Amino acid sequence: MTICKTTAVAAESVADRIAAAVAAKPNVVLGLATGGTMEPVYKALVRRSAAGLSFSAVRVFALDEYVGLPPDHPQSYRVYLRERFVDHVGLDPSRFHVPRGDLSAEVAASEYETTLRQHGPVDLQLLGIGRNGHIGFNEPGSPFASRTRLVALTASTRAANARFFAPGHVPRHAITMGIASILEARRLLVFAIGPEKSDAVWAMVMQPPTVDVPASAVRLHASAEIVLDEGAAGQVA
Ligand code: PGA
Repeated sequence: MTICKTTAVAAESVADRIAAAVAAKPNVVLGLATGGTMEPVYKALVRRSAAGLSFSAVRVFALDEYVGLPPDHPQSYRVYLRERFVDHVGLDPSRFHVPRGDLSAEVAASEYETTLRQHGPVDLQLLGIGRNGHIGFNEPGSPFASRTRLVALTASTRAANARFFAPGHVPRHAITMGIASILEARRLLVFAIGPEKSDAVWAMVMQPPTVDVPASAVRLHASAEIVLDEGAAGQVA
């Protein structure tokens, strides 16, 4: 576990790890997360690209996507990743994969698992953590054996995301990589910032793994690293 003094230093340290993975393996397969936490990480990676790091052979799998939004919806995770990262680093669009929230969920989930099998495993999976301990949109109670599938979002997740949507338009469902799908990555990198995540971080690292805290599954992985700022580390430092 790495605890950084400030959020900015923590984000740079996460970006350093991703950049090092790209430099070591130009066709690295990255699993990428979204959310407010990751924004400074993508800014830092775009700076690395401008400074000469090539992302042209990198492949990207997004962790999750809302259901029912067209792919070009400004709040879709496809657009999030394009606007903050993919479109600025010269990534080949055919190497950018996001679950299709506009298809039947069953078809979209099974297509995604097939694509993951075809091009995986993911070399480095970046993960945020929800205040309720979710990873991706695997909400509390998600089986550790779960794979990419349709999930209902909990009231707390919808409340956390409500700021991005017009009232009454917060999505109720998502397609997410499952916990088993996530754990198949060769390496996990969890990044959390701010005191509002400190309880979830405590539950992730201090208790035995439990389905009540989906993020605790990362402790079953042989190569999982956690980067925190001091706020998120408040209960574990
Ligand atoms: P956040 O989301 O970065 O917007 O807090 C993280 C998550 O819910 O996984």
